[in-house]
Amino acid sequence: MLAHTEQRPKVAIICGSGMGGLGELLGDRNVFQYKDIPHFPTSTVPGHAGQLVFGKLQGRECVCMQGRFHFYEGYNIHTVTYPVRVFYLLGVETLIVTNAAGGLNGCYEVGDIMLIKDHINMPGFAGQNPLCGHNDDRFGVRFPCMSDAYDRELGALVKQTAKEQGCDSFLQEGVYCMLAGPTYETIAECKVLQKLGADAVGMSTVPEVLVARHCGLRVLGLSLITNKVVTEYDSTERANHEEVLKTTERRSQDLQRLVSHLITNI
Ligand code: HPA
Repeated sequence: MLAHTEQRPKVAIICGSGMGGLGELLGDRNVFQYKDIPHFPTSTVPGHAGQLVFGKLQGRECVCMQGRFHFYEGYNIHTVTYPVRVFYLLGVETLIVTNAAGGLNGCYEVGDIMLIKDHINMPGFAGQNPLCGHNDDRFGVRFPCMSDAYDRELGALVKQTAKEQGCDSFLQEGVYCMLAGPTYETIAECKVLQKLGADAVGMSTVPEVLVARHCGLRVLGLSLITNKVVTEYDSTERANHEEVLKTTERRSQDLQRLVSHLITNI
């Protein structure tokens, strides 16, 4: 990879479903298809482009994954997080992750952006952690701390930038819970997640964050609340991917604006 580009970004961005537009904003682009990168898996979800874009956002060098890998696609959890180690070896210091998520917190509205302050690694409860197995000491320690997974300074920067950009009316801060998917949650599952203290639920992000923290990257996570989860048995609402993509389309400009302004201050 280093031999194929002269760019040495310090910031990497992983774009969630329908949020790959961020990669289109990059100037001085150098684009690599995942299929052309050794050991990179390829993305199968509609709304994910499947390419790595190097370029400049607001004059700042960064590398952007347009499309991520999900555990539910059948990849093993180590494959899902492989790109994060590539970023680390490229010299990246900060990882920005975005995702689409269902709102569990009753105060959240569809279209809100949630700054992730913490997560619940539900697949980890079931033994699916990307750091299981031999620990490669070149990347990090055997037992990495996760109480500081989401960088507080970057979080403060998001809040300040959101204010400056007029996005603060729909900026929330909360706990993201990852489930393996691909099924959306049952009503009973949603109630459990609410009781556990989760504010949003999705099917990504946590594995990448674990591997990023293991190798010392600073992490910023943003969830776009694309739908409210169903918690009542008489509700006629049904979670579906079309609604998720519709909301990301509506809010993607705001999210892109937020991230690109943020990047100038990192
Ligand atoms: N559940 C899980 N993942 C999601 C959801 C949801 O409601 N919305 C977007 N991603």
